[in-house]
Amino acid sequence: MNYEAKVKELCEGKKAFIRTFGCQLNENDSEKLAGMLQTMGYVISDDIRTADLVLLNTCAIRENAEKKTFGAVGLLKNLKEKNPALIVVMAGCMTGETHVMDKLRATYCHVDIVLGSNNIDAFPRLLYTYLYEKERVFDTEYAGVLPEGLPTYRQDKFRASVPVMYGCNNFCAYCIVPYVRGRERSRKAADIVREVETLRDNGYMEVMLLGQNVNSYQGGGDAFARLLQQVSDTGIPRIRFMTSHPKDISDAVLDVMASRDNICKALHLPVQAGNNRVLAAMNRRYTREKYLSIVEKAREKMPDIVLTTDIIVGFPGETNEEFADTISLLKAVRYDMIFSFIFSPRQGTPAANMADVLTAEEKKRNFDQLLQVQNQISKEKNLQLADKILPVLVEGRSKTDATMMTGRTDGGKIVHFKGDDGLCGRIVDVQIQTPKTWNLQGEIVCHSN
Ligand code: 5AD
Ligand code: SF4
Repeated sequence: MNYEAKVKELCEGKKAFIRTFGCQLNENDSEKLAGMLQTMGYVISDDIRTADLVLLNTCAIRENAEKKTFGAVGLLKNLKEKNPALIVVMAGCMTGETHVMDKLRATYCHVDIVLGSNNIDAFPRLLYTYLYEKERVFDTEYAGVLPEGLPTYRQDKFRASVPVMYGCNNFCAYCIVPYVRGRERSRKAADIVREVETLRDNGYMEVMLLGQNVNSYQGGGDAFARLLQQVSDTGIPRIRFMTSHPKDISDAVLDVMASRDNICKALHLPVQAGNNRVLAAMNRRYTREKYLSIVEKAREKMPDIVLTTDIIVGFPGETNEEFADTISLLKAVRYDMIFSFIFSPRQGTPAANMADVLTAEEKKRNFDQLLQVQNQISKEKNLQLADKILPVLVEGRSKTDATMMTGRTDGGKIVHFKGDDGLCGRIVDVQIQTPKTWNLQGEIVCHSN
């Protein structure tokens, strides 16, 4: 059955609104869901009030993400009361949680279709079933084959994300991802390379290779280094990748990064904590010393590499003394930027049942201290860039000041400068004049392409 064509018979010209929560993998899934909706005749709209179909692509990583989603689902009830023909769809990681599915079935009757994060390719069939058989559809089953060639409605004209693998096998004690996204599955290198070549041919300047743990691509070893080499050979001007697990990153990956001009010198290497007891309790399977040795190696090979990380504050059992080791690690590594989170218990993960030592107030105090220490470091690191001339990929107008353009350096730092729309999608040389904590300001010196 051609489900797309059957849906199109009923839905041609209707409007679809998509809201995405969470990470870049979810953003990428949304681009594919939008692509499928377009194939089925829908027009993608940014006005939820006039939409005929609303899709929420959800995130389960922390409790506040879930709360926000349930808030949004609640609001849709009013919208559906006003427009009973509205189709409400939920997708993404939250649909992988049994307690969420139970709640949706029992109390959120205005949600019509639920699909999982591992079967987005089933969307046309589910929409068909809902429209023609007129019943709520709940289907989150992975069919066992990674879908290739789904239509993709790209948000951006110059930068694209390209998943290389899905799922995670690591079971860090705090993390829900392995439960909701399942075991690791890698795409074939040939499919990834073909996708990058097509993007390149369509004028894309940058790809971000995505996976929960890209360094275990195709089982680990040097497979990801080889993939990076192949993607680099396509000649696309900029390649980034995330996320790297410190236990899996190989010397070969650092060597390929160092030797290829079109692989950005930027590494996101989540450390999570600076204390060895806490790291072991988190089931991270590396030590502080091992982590620091990777940072040293990366800097030896790429002295200007931009390093970023993720940190969890207040993991159950973490004491103030152990937290002090995270602060000292921050000072030892001197990251360009960090993403920090207060531990959020996730039902079904081992850490959800572990006891706390610190109170919520103490955790908040530690969190604030962490930000303060990092802000100072970020500022100092950016100050070192004063007067430097850096190639910047121009993304568009600055969101905060329409007279300025915005773009990113090879290391991923945001730069604002005066310019015009014609520069979008080009790499220009910008001299940094005013480095700030969160971004850099400068002036174009010449166009390098
Ligand atoms: N609580 C807080 N932060 C978490 N992360 C993952 N799970 C949790 C949790 N339960 C953070 C980790 C991870 C990032 C994507 O989110 O730091 O690297
Ligand atoms: Fe979660 Fe750990 Fe897998 Fe990252 S590596 S997705 S933190 S389980």
